[in-house]
Amino acid sequence: MDKSAFPDPTFVISGPMHASRRHDSAHKHVTGTADYIDDLPEPSGLLHGALGLSDRAHAEIVGMDLSEVAATPGVVWVFTGKDVPGINDVSSNGSHDEPLLAETKVEFHQQPIFAVIAETRDIARRAARKAKIEYRDLAHWSDIDGALENGGALVTSPMTLSRGEAKSEMANAARRLKGRMRIGGQEHFYLEGQIAMAIPGEDDEVTVWSSTQHPSEIQHIVGHVLNIPSNAVTVNVRRMGGGFGGKETQGNQFAALAAIAAKKLKRSIKFRPDRDEDMAATGKRHDFMVDYEVGFDEEGRIHAVDATYAARCGFSSDLSGPVTDRALFHADSSYFYPHVHLTSKPLKTHTVSNTAFRGFGGPQGMLGAERFIEEIAYAVGKDPLDIRKLNFYGKPGSGRTLTPYHQEVEDSILERIVGELEESADYQARRREIIEFNRDSRYIKKGIALTPVKFGISFTLTAFNQAGALVHVYQDGSIHLNHGGTEMGQGLYTKVAQVLADSFQIDIEHVKITATTTGKVPNTSATAASSGTDLNGMAAYDAARQIKERLVAFAAEKWDVPVSEIAFLPNRVRVGNQEIPFPDFIRQAYFARVQLSAAGFYKTPKIHWDRAAGKGTPFYYYSYGASCTEVSIDTLTGEYLIDRTDILHDVGRSLNPAIDIGQVEGAFVQGMGWLTTEELWWDAKGRLRTHAPSTYKIPLASDRPKIFNVKLAEWSENAEHTIGRSKAVGEPPFMLAISVLEALSMAVASVADYKVCPRLDAPATPERVLMAVERMKAVG
Ligand code: MTE
Ligand code: MOS
Repeated sequence: MDKSAFPDPTFVISGPMHASRRHDSAHKHVTGTADYIDDLPEPSGLLHGALGLSDRAHAEIVGMDLSEVAATPGVVWVFTGKDVPGINDVSSNGSHDEPLLAETKVEFHQQPIFAVIAETRDIARRAARKAKIEYRDLAHWSDIDGALENGGALVTSPMTLSRGEAKSEMANAARRLKGRMRIGGQEHFYLEGQIAMAIPGEDDEVTVWSSTQHPSEIQHIVGHVLNIPSNAVTVNVRRMGGGFGGKETQGNQFAALAAIAAKKLKRSIKFRPDRDEDMAATGKRHDFMVDYEVGFDEEGRIHAVDATYAARCGFSSDLSGPVTDRALFHADSSYFYPHVHLTSKPLKTHTVSNTAFRGFGGPQGMLGAERFIEEIAYAVGKDPLDIRKLNFYGKPGSGRTLTPYHQEVEDSILERIVGELEESADYQARRREIIEFNRDSRYIKKGIALTPVKFGISFTLTAFNQAGALVHVYQDGSIHLNHGGTEMGQGLYTKVAQVLADSFQIDIEHVKITATTTGKVPNTSATAASSGTDLNGMAAYDAARQIKERLVAFAAEKWDVPVSEIAFLPNRVRVGNQEIPFPDFIRQAYFARVQLSAAGFYKTPKIHWDRAAGKGTPFYYYSYGASCTEVSIDTLTGEYLIDRTDILHDVGRSLNPAIDIGQVEGAFVQGMGWLTTEELWWDAKGRLRTHAPSTYKIPLASDRPKIFNVKLAEWSENAEHTIGRSKAVGEPPFMLAISVLEALSMAVASVADYKVCPRLDAPATPERVLMAVERMKAVG
């Protein structure tokens, strides 16, 4: 048959695919009718689990008396690591360094040691507190400094990226400076906490509902703790109430515990930690300490960068390898480094194992680079924006396109994005006004900053860049869509449904989006690295293509018309000169025994990565953006307001501008929280003291910029063959928030007439801003 009816999958369609549409569940989210796992009807006989947690940061377990726990009325079973039928481990990377339940030693405060199953959650939780555990304390450290002072043990192998001769060329630079930046971690604070419900089946079977970004991983882990094959485990998730990376691996323990108890007791089990336990017992964003030396010329052009990225990883490796790698991949931010040497130090600490969080180390790497720029700007007495522009990656052929990992930046739109935002935000005039304002204002000082974003899209582990979809067209013309991606609020389901609706040219209401399940699409990757739509959208497209090919072949034969005279029009199909409503057309195809179901598949082309050599093409393309923020600080208290933020962000040809703008706004505000008020604090005993909303401050609606102008770069189109020429949007806009920290920094610098770089660390809490102001007063 004539394949030209199906051009390459990049054809730009203009039906439902590029239109603003509400999130398929938006109305259900706001009216409380969206089913989260805790809303599902509970199977009869359901029991509840609670964790028994360590109250030492690092200790040997020398005795454990759980008799009082077990004797509590309503308690059905208490179990420890010894009761795990398979392997007592939930590590996501095969390193076996993360026991499900600690047996001989604990390595962080609130590490799970045992689990209690009871008639109610309340009974289970209260009973857990009756455990008598005897410890022999060991030396512990909970932060980067502590880890370095105690020998700097690593949880996983470090990575080095190097190009040119950073060490020797440093000496040849006209100017040099050294510094250190500390960058805080972040709690995910998903609204729906971790949760899993396991329902036992016959023989070795078990079904698990898990709030997870990675159903296939939950399937593996459950198989491995129960010592059963993957085909006995089915994992389902309809939606999460937020994941943000915190449900890439952190759901493993709850699913594993629920499944073990379900098989043992032959009853359904639900595990849902409360917020305090969730915050204490699950990993967070890594905090970093960046030690840097930068060589540059009198103009401010970077010549060499030599930097080390030490990260607090917690007690086990989890995703710390790929997270610290991604920090290095983004340690260039948007800038060309002629000579560069970057090393990661994924440090072991006696804290909960840190994990994925929106940007996956990228934000920390980029923030370091923006500090280098700031330092240079103050050293040469220029506006940091001028230094940024001077150092941007150049056009192909400029000799300034090679990244520290030896991938060429071929698609840079930095100059255009930054230039347009500079205009639309009226940056130059406002900066002049702000400098004038600061001259006359005694206590209130203002700052403004315009910062760029360039973020690499793809999983750096090449194998993860694959996806599958399963599409059924039923006899009535309605469509059942399933794919390997998970919905966490980001709008993935809506976008993939748009792709299908577009392919068949039917209204999106006829596409039913169904819960992600390992039984329909196997061997999926985590919905992460912002690649959900790129991968699953293409897989769904591929499934639709197969069905359409069969339909066209059927119609050509039945009505005896050339393929070129068959077309999918809105809700109907044109065959020669007749138009048939889509449902009628499908019914006829069914009677002609056309297969109306297909499994689609996609793998990202071009990419490869050699970690040992530090060379390759880890990213398929880059997403870009820029933001400009103005702030006011009170130099007497350190408090501040965000007066205005303007954003211009690149999503290629947007699949759904309404959803994309939501992602940009949400990511910016979340990034702003990371850099301003969200502070994690562990005490001398290694206890996380910021473990609830009472002590951990995420942004409120009232903290948003007073003026907030968010636009998509409408002219942008992905140069690569992505679905509809769109670009990933989930993580890149998180880093737009760097403009907030830089604007605060400028306001602080004004106290000493912009003569010295304030070296403001993150998060810039009011206390930290106040201390920086005091330092400025001392030098000024
Ligand atoms: N948006 C919402 N509303 N909730 C979330 O949990 N997670 C972010 C981002 N946007 C998240 C979100 C993260 S960390 C990633 S990697 C992407 O969504 C994942 O989805 P995608 O690949 O479909 O963009
Ligand atoms: Mo996002 S941190 O890749 O889940």
